[in-house]
Amino acid sequence: MRRPIVAGNWKMNLDLASGRRLVLELRAALGAAPPLDVAIIPPAIYLFPMARAVADSPVMLGAQNCWRDSSGAFTGEVSAAMVKETGCTYVVLGHSERRHTIGPKDPAGGVHGENDALIAEKCVAALCAGLQPIVCVGETLEQRDGGETEAVLDRQIEGSLAGVTADRAKDLIVAYEPVWAIGTGRNASPEQAQASHAYIRGRLGRLFGQGTADDLRIQYGGSVKPENVVELMKCPDVDGALVGGASLKATDFAKIIEGCVRAKGI
Ligand code: PGA
Repeated sequence: MRRPIVAGNWKMNLDLASGRRLVLELRAALGAAPPLDVAIIPPAIYLFPMARAVADSPVMLGAQNCWRDSSGAFTGEVSAAMVKETGCTYVVLGHSERRHTIGPKDPAGGVHGENDALIAEKCVAALCAGLQPIVCVGETLEQRDGGETEAVLDRQIEGSLAGVTADRAKDLIVAYEPVWAIGTGRNASPEQAQASHAYIRGRLGRLFGQGTADDLRIQYGGSVKPENVVELMKCPDVDGALVGGASLKATDFAKIIEGCVRAKGI
């Protein structure tokens, strides 16, 4: 059985003191050996202090991004090896807030204009550095309404994972994050989530072999809350959650983790 993973993407929120407090509360709520993987994903500048805060606990660490090259003149960027050195297990890549370009037509509000080719290079760099990339995919509302969801997922999966070999793929995590559900309070229904997750797994099977795809974890992300987590996590192809807003409060995040445990019966 796939071990679920619940990760809290802090985005550009919290300060050092509140981050530390959150980790303390989370550690107290979790116990010594939860039956799933739990990670916090703070801003890069907080990775080292948060690594100390989670030390000797089951809480793991992830970064929100990394760069594709190993070193060089890339002002403002951090390499995958640097991320790894802070103690991270995971790195989020291709989040919709980084994929979409700025402009009046951008329904996603993203600002960095990252494309699949760049995400693929970052993904290979992350795997080479010994990180587990959490590669985000998902359609906008316009694309869903236009019946393009599967085509968008095909394009993003194939493009963002280009260059990932079947033997490296076992370290991948995919996050299905419908853009219209991120930060909107409007989550995908369990039926919508299950359909997309099953589709993604099938696509991963064509890329890496069905055996590998059956072992890969696919997280759902987009307005996951204590109130909706159980029904979402009951979906057989949903292997955990990538949580934004609700991960900023330890009590809510802990409830989401508990809900995942309950839904999976683990
Ligand atoms: P949200 O964000 O839970 O606040 O919708 C999810 C994400 O962007 O990963």
